[in-house]
Amino acid sequence: MTADVIGCCREIAFMSESADSITRTFLSPPMREVHRKLGEWMERLAMPVEVDAAGNLRGIYAGRQPNAPRLVIGSHVDTVPAAGAYDGVLGVVLALALVEELHGRRFAFGIEVVAFSEEEGVRFGVPFIGSRALAGTLDADLLSRRDVNGCTVAEAIRAFGLDPANAPDAELRGDILGYLEFHIEQGPELESLDLPVAVVEAIAGQSRLDFHFHGQSGHAGTTPMRLRRDALAGASEWVSAVERLALATPGLVATVGRIEARPGAGNVIAGEVRASLDVRHANDQIRRRALEEMTREAESSARKRSLTVNWDIRMDQSAVVCDQALTTQLARAVEKQGHHVHRMVSGAGHDAMVLARKIPVTMLFLRSPGGISHHPDESVRQEDVEAALGVGLAFLEELGK
Ligand code: GLV
Ligand code: MN
Ligand code: MN
Repeated sequence: MTADVIGCCREIAFMSESADSITRTFLSPPMREVHRKLGEWMERLAMPVEVDAAGNLRGIYAGRQPNAPRLVIGSHVDTVPAAGAYDGVLGVVLALALVEELHGRRFAFGIEVVAFSEEEGVRFGVPFIGSRALAGTLDADLLSRRDVNGCTVAEAIRAFGLDPANAPDAELRGDILGYLEFHIEQGPELESLDLPVAVVEAIAGQSRLDFHFHGQSGHAGTTPMRLRRDALAGASEWVSAVERLALATPGLVATVGRIEARPGAGNVIAGEVRASLDVRHANDQIRRRALEEMTREAESSARKRSLTVNWDIRMDQSAVVCDQALTTQLARAVEKQGHHVHRMVSGAGHDAMVLARKIPVTMLFLRSPGGISHHPDESVRQEDVEAALGVGLAFLEELGK
């Protein structure tokens, strides 16, 4: 293997909004450095490079014929706050390392490598801005969403020197064979099986909501317990109910990962609470039923304390089944490389699930040591990176047949 894939991911990790952690949100200043670094690499590989109106960096490795169909390979280069160095970025760096491994050899298809600008949903509370542009679903509603500073997606695009009016041009057009994404597993399954890679069969659907509990703030010393309308007490009871419901439903995961109480002082009853909810399951019906129960629980804990509660659905992304034909080819490539073919469902969301509406998608997971992800200790093993590259090359061969 010529490229130092892990070293490159670590170098990109320094391109951060924060000096002491890896945080890179949609079109934030360090995104420019990422584009420069990856763009230079693409140019060295003789790939014409462009940044589309959604801030996706795209390079094309031509096929044997000028208008050959394209295989798209990519992942995202934004991160969660205080992230690890591999979630997303690894998939883009691996795509470029794969092109490098070809040493100029051309196929009957071209390869478009995409570094998606946004997948985590951190800045605007809605994920997949980059891949929605390629799928042609980056609509006016999304462009008008605001971040905590009141900046809209469209304004963020303009501030980066791009024109949101050109977003329709970012949509994938022409003859596309499909989409391949390499990604760390982000969980413990492959490590427990002592396997380097897995073929992803499906991606769990997910709902993301914002809840708002409204009560009455007041003096912590003088307001009798029975006369309180404590929004944080209500929200806390609901958080426990969410956990209980998820534990009782096989395969369901539910997380309240952000909670904010106002006015936020130790001697003041919280009058207002905002909390997030993330619910996922491979079966959309089970997820939606669980979500209904969770909203009923929110109403019930609010009623007990004379609070009001309302919520906003930020995202309802259906589960996605990966393309059968491409996935069979990927599994064959795994087998050819001498690995056991393990198939699994992804609990994490990926750009592939948005692109699946438009083109066939397939994904290869790499083992996550310790199952750790969305955490600074996230890592990947050199031998698994090599295994993934081997599988990638075998997959291209399969596709080129
Ligand atoms: C993306 O990392 C997700 O939250 O699934
Ligand atoms: Mn992530
Ligand atoms: Mn990711």
